[in-house]
Parts: sequence; structure tokens; C-alpha cells
Amino acid sequence: MQKNNVFSGTAGARMYDTEGKIIQAHGGQIQKFTVDGKERWYWIGEDKTDGYRPCGGIHLYSSKDLFEWKDEGIILKTLDHIEEFETSYFKEIYGTLTQQEKEILFTDLDKHNCVIERPKMIYNKKTNKYILWFHADGRCQGSDGDYGKAKAGVAVSDSLTAPFRLFGTYKLNYHNDPNGDFGFDGWAKRGSVRDMNLFQDKDGAAYIIYSSEGNRTTYISKLNDEYTALAKDPDKAVEGEDFTRNFIGNFKEAHAMFQYQNKYYLIQSGCTGWAANPASYAVADHPMGPWKDMGDPCKDSGRETTYDSQSTCVIPLDEEKGWYIYMGDRWNEKDLGDSRYVWLPIEFLPENKIALPRKQNWTFS
Ligand code: GAL
Repeated sequence: MQKNNVFSGTAGARMYDTEGKIIQAHGGQIQKFTVDGKERWYWIGEDKTDGYRPCGGIHLYSSKDLFEWKDEGIILKTLDHIEEFETSYFKEIYGTLTQQEKEILFTDLDKHNCVIERPKMIYNKKTNKYILWFHADGRCQGSDGDYGKAKAGVAVSDSLTAPFRLFGTYKLNYHNDPNGDFGFDGWAKRGSVRDMNLFQDKDGAAYIIYSSEGNRTTYISKLNDEYTALAKDPDKAVEGEDFTRNFIGNFKEAHAMFQYQNKYYLIQSGCTGWAANPASYAVADHPMGPWKDMGDPCKDSGRETTYDSQSTCVIPLDEEKGWYIYMGDRWNEKDLGDSRYVWLPIEFLPENKIALPRKQNWTFS
């Protein structure tokens, strides 16, 4: 069990909430929000209480200090059967939808078939809304595989802790050459989205970073001003302006972008499913690139598996002090709900290099 004044780091100790339950927020993200005048850290992630499936939706926790986590509940709930739309909880959110619209949403929220991974949230100042994006996948009509759908889901709420309403799931930008290499997705499944993350720049612009073209290529696409959709419809979007294709053919995922001293950093993993592999990172002057590949950030033994972890987010704790936390998942394929969290300090070095040390029971001093 992680102590309540140090991060267990590569020891990967179990983390519990204030009620003593194992924290279920895998593939997650932590950020600071002020709600009702109170500043808190908020952690969202995949609820894997029941393992891979039934899919538990998106879980939220809050904390004053990153050590003690209060359970704030499930903010995006899945359904057991379609009739559940008629129960008060779901009626409140989806009551105005037609039966056909409910059937479409059910494909994305059916806990016995859906996959909800790597949820990320951003707050939109103009609309005063919280927007959730996630990798929406799972079995659906015409596709028995868990990762054949390959879409991005978008859900919105007026309050961070209130139920989010799923708007829909979407294919995103694609490379406009039907003869190009679209990996195992092929041209027919162009615009595919699997591992994804969001990045909100200081100027208010926000981006979605995702693996596409059968995971071969990392796309970075600009979101609209409300953060609820792409800035431009995929059929009209222009590569280089509305989106960029990065690390073409390099099979990267687990994207975690952050900014430090006017540079943008992107930590990623390779594509080996639940099994850990070496991380890589890149540096750019703009969130859409061009990205300079900087190699492996890990500097100690265990590099070949990123100390048995896979990136999911970087927490910018204190930019002035250079306190940034790498958040990784140590997936346990046999018992996904007991997957651990590996948090490490990021070391900033000359020439825009970073390093991830192997550290246990550590804290910033
Ligand atoms: C990983 C990915 C996870 C999950 C897993 C399924 O590569 O990062 O989010 O999708 O594959 O095998």
C-alpha cells in the first residue's frame, strides 16, 4: 500500500481511496480544478473493477495533496441493457433522445460489449463546460473484435462531478490518399482512433493526439473552440493546417503531451498491447509539431519496459520549480483491476532533454 506522504514510484504499491477501496482510474489523467472556491486535484480513468468487462465506465477521484483520494463516483456510466435508458438516472441525461438515437448510443455504452479507454478531460472557459474524450471501441454490428470500431467518444457536463452526457463516437481525420498505407485499418476504416490523449495549450487551443492508420501513425488534430469536435470536418480538413501526421509508420501509442519552458514534449510507448515496452519522447515548438525524436527517456535499469509501465499522462505540478510527474500504468493483464500506477519525477536536462529515473517511495523536496 502506498504511504500517504511519498509516491511509491516503480514499487507500484496498491493505491486506495479514503474508504479503503482500490483506486480504479487506469489509463488516466490528473489535473487541477477549482470547484466552489476549492482547489483540488482531479483524477479520471478507466474503472476496471470487473476486469476488462463488464466495462465500468469512467471513474473520478479528488485530492488535496495527490496522496489521499476521495471517490467522486462514476462520471460516465455504462448500461447493462437498453431498457436502462428508462431508469431515472439515464432518463435525466438521455430522456429527450429518440429510440433510434438511444440504440446508437447503446452500442457505445453497452457494458457487455463496449470498450472505454484512456479518458481525458478539458474545461472550456467560454462555454463553462467540462468535455471528456475517450477511445471508444468494442464489439459492434459487423465487428466482433474489441478494437475494430476505433472511434473517439465525446461527452459533456456542466459540472465536473455530475453525470456526463455522451454525444456520440466519431472517426477523425485521415490521410487523403486512398493509395496510402492505412495499416490494418485500410482505407475503408480511415480516420480510426485508438490510444488517445488531449492537450490544452496556454492560448486556449486544444488538440487531440491519437494513434491512427492501424496504429502506424500519430495524428494531432485541432479541436473546435468548444472542444466538442474537430476544428474542421474530416472531409474538409487539410493536413498540415488542421491536423498533422507524425512518426509515420513508427507504431506509437500511450501519448502524454506537456509543455515546459516554451517547448512541447510528447512521451509515448510502442504498440505491444498490455505488455510494457520501451518509451520514447519527442520535442517540438508547437503542439502539432514538427516533432524531433529524442529517444528513450528512461535512464536506469528496466528501460526496456519503461520500468514496467506505459505512459498515460504528465502532471505539471509546478512549472517554475520544474516539478512534473510522469503517470504510467503497470497493466496486469490477468487481473486488469489490480493494475498498478507508476508515477515518476521528470528530470529536465540541457538541450531540451528529459530523463525518467527509476525511483521508489519518492517525493519532491
Ligand atoms: C494497449 C493500449 C491500452 C489497451 C491495450 C489493449 O496497447 O495502450 O490502452 O488498449 O493495448 O490490449
